[in-house]
Amino acid sequence: METLSALLYLVASVCFIMALRGLSSPETSRQGNLYGMVGMTIAILTTLALPIVQSYWMIVLGIAIGGGIGYVIAKKIEMTALPQLVAAFHSLVGLAAVFVALSAFYSPEAYGIGVPGAIAKGSLVEMALGTAIGAITFTGSIVAFAKLQGLVTGKPLVFPFQHHLNAALGVLTILLILWLVQSNSSAALWLIVGVSLALGFLLILPIGGADMPVVISMLNSYSGWAAAGIGFTLQNNLLIITGALVGSSGAILSYIMCKGMNRSIFNVILGGFGGESAAAAAGVGGAERGTVKAGSPEDAAYIMKNAQSVIIVPGYGMAVAQAQHALREMADLLKKEGVDVKYAIHPVAGRMPGHMNVLLAEANVPYDEVFELEDINRDFGTADVAFVIGANDVTNPAAKTDPQSPIYGMPILDVEKAKTVFFIKRGMAAGYAGVENELFFRPNTMMLFGDAKKVTEEVVKATE
Ligand code: TAP
Repeated sequence: METLSALLYLVASVCFIMALRGLSSPETSRQGNLYGMVGMTIAILTTLALPIVQSYWMIVLGIAIGGGIGYVIAKKIEMTALPQLVAAFHSLVGLAAVFVALSAFYSPEAYGIGVPGAIAKGSLVEMALGTAIGAITFTGSIVAFAKLQGLVTGKPLVFPFQHHLNAALGVLTILLILWLVQSNSSAALWLIVGVSLALGFLLILPIGGADMPVVISMLNSYSGWAAAGIGFTLQNNLLIITGALVGSSGAILSYIMCKGMNRSIFNVILGGFGGESAAAAAGVGGAERGTVKAGSPEDAAYIMKNAQSVIIVPGYGMAVAQAQHALREMADLLKKEGVDVKYAIHPVAGRMPGHMNVLLAEANVPYDEVFELEDINRDFGTADVAFVIGANDVTNPAAKTDPQSPIYGMPILDVEKAKTVFFIKRGMAAGYAGVENELFFRPNTMMLFGDAKKVTEEVVKATE
């Protein structure tokens, strides 16, 4: 049985690796998902068939309650609320790691790692690391959830000597781990829980709204390492592999996003990056104001029909309005008129990684018309029209010109270089980072005020 389960765990692990590979491109993502599902089914069935499982009723009850809650949430959740849902789920992974470590500490015989007061040193180290990472993930994810849900301000919360305090708590955690390993003391373990809970809270608190995407993927990575820690405590190879896959892929994604946002990965791990400058200036764009020119959907249709090239820049507002289908219809009509139409995707447009790609794929936009920032930014200089639909921060030149801005340093889509820029949005509100966008006042900008879907449908009507 042991060899068979090891073999099946290996098959499941390979499926998970294939799933990650598949998810790296929109064309293969469905297949990737399928691999993931197959791998998870094999993993669950194999685990349930292990001889250590002595009774099923608790497991079935847990699956029924957890599965039921998960089903209801999945049915109800709006696409735009996914980031906070992900943050909430990460917190549960962290909490599970803490619970598993505590139960292993109080009943070590059940885990085959010793007896109370004399637990194997290696197991104590694994337990302590799982507890610390789990507790940091738990409170960190709760703060991230509260920020994304708007329960607490998205602005960075900074106070003097914050980094020193975080560093001191980090060192204290290491000392407590050493104490636990030396003494088997339950006080040491509970102190690790307490200090790590505080650390998770303090690490995420100073992070500003514009940097939340990186935080989410970082917490995703932490939750993976916490799961790997549980795997060591439970001596379950598959959990170790799966946790490590989640941990490392989350870390790679964070690295890619940091590069995309021009941030330092070390600052993210240590917490509070960009906090100081952001605190100084959140909400101030330093914009030179001019007059705002509002246009009609008919104006936009006329200009685009007569253009040679149009670059569409989708953002969070397109997701809110669910305007992707109308947008594709508009693009199809323009293509029929001989216009070259492309889509430009910023790495943090919307509210989760790949948000815009998913929506455009749902509307059957051909993949070869969708370009990443670095592949298309040069084209704005020769484009006739940039059609910005519900995007704001990702086009804001303050990221290049205002060192005090919370988004300073983030690469942006250079829409202002196009001959005409349309911004579809409901009013003059700022984007997620709370910074005014000076492009709204530029002479080559025309605002198309209204709900993104409604305005696009009107443009479609006027184009036909
Ligand atoms: P934002 O800067 O948030 O701007 C979206 C704009 O859409 C708003 O200014 C809003 O203006 C408009 N809008 C909202 N609902 C609309 C509707 N129904 N119809 C038309 N317009 C609507 O979006 P972005 O440019 O996509 O930038 C993303 C921001 O979110 C970045 O700051 C990024 O750091 C942050 N963020 C990203 C992620 C990930 S992973 N992508 C996660 C968390 C945070 P009005 O209210 O005036 O209409």
